[in-house]
Amino acid sequence: MIEILTGTYQVIDPTRGRAPSAIELDMGCGKGRLALELARRYPDRVVLASDVMLGRLRRIDRKATNRGLTNLALLRADNLDLASYLLPHACIDRIHLLCPDPWPKERHRIKRLVTTDFVGRLVRLLKPGGVLHMSTDHVPYLADWRRILALYPCLREAAAAIADIADIQTEFEVQWRAAGKDVPHLAFRLEPRPPDRG
Ligand SMILES: C[S@@+](CC[C@H](N)C(=O)[O-])C[C@H]1O[C@@H](n2cnc3c(N)ncnc32)[C@H](O)[C@@H]1O
Repeated sequence: MIEILTGTYQVIDPTRGRAPSAIELDMGCGKGRLALELARRYPDRVVLASDVMLGRLRRIDRKATNRGLTNLALLRADNLDLASYLLPHACIDRIHLLCPDPWPKERHRIKRLVTTDFVGRLVRLLKPGGVLHMSTDHVPYLADWRRILALYPCLREAAAAIADIADIQTEFEVQWRAAGKDVPHLAFRLEPRPPDRG
C-alpha cells in the first residue's frame, strides 16, 4: 500500500504497527530494487521506501504484492519533509540514500539534496548505532560528502555496516556501471550514546 504524505504534516509510525527487529529507510527509492530485496531478505524488519514519483511507487507496490512482501511500506514523500518532520526522532536503523542528486553541474549546485543541513536531519532520524548509507555515480560528490560528514563527529565510517547488501545494485547503479562509471558507496554509523557518567 502506498501512503501519500506529500502536503501533510503528520508524524507517521515507522514500525507500521509491527514489532520489527529493525527499520530500513530507502529514500528516493526509484524503481525499488534495493527496497524489494531488503524486504525479501529481512522479513522481520520493516522497510520504508519513499519517492515522489507515484508511478514508480505503484509499480513497486505491484511487485511487492506479487512477491507476498508484507513488510514493505511505500511512502510518497519528499526527502526533505521525511527527514525534517514526517518521522520521529531516532527511529531508523539504516538509511539508504543511493544515487541522489543528478546535479553535477556547478550551476545546479543549489538543487543538490546532500548538504550539511540535510545530513543533520538524517542524523536526527537515526537510532544510536544506526547507519547512513550513500552512493553516487558522480565521484566528485564523494569528497563533498566526506567534508560534510566530517562536520558530524558523532558519525564514524563503518563500511562493514553494508557488507550484507554489497551484492545489490540499484537500477541506477546498474545503468551507470553499464556506461562505464564507478558507483562508490559510503557507510557511516551514528555512535551509540556515551555511557551515563552521572
Ligand atoms: C537518480 S534516482 C535514484 C533512484 C534509486 N535510489 C537508485 O539508485 O536506483 C533519484 C530518485 O529520487 C527521487 N526523488 C527526486 N527528488 C526527490 C525528492 N525531493 N524527494 C523524494 N524523492 C525524490 C526520484 O523520483 C528518483 O526516483
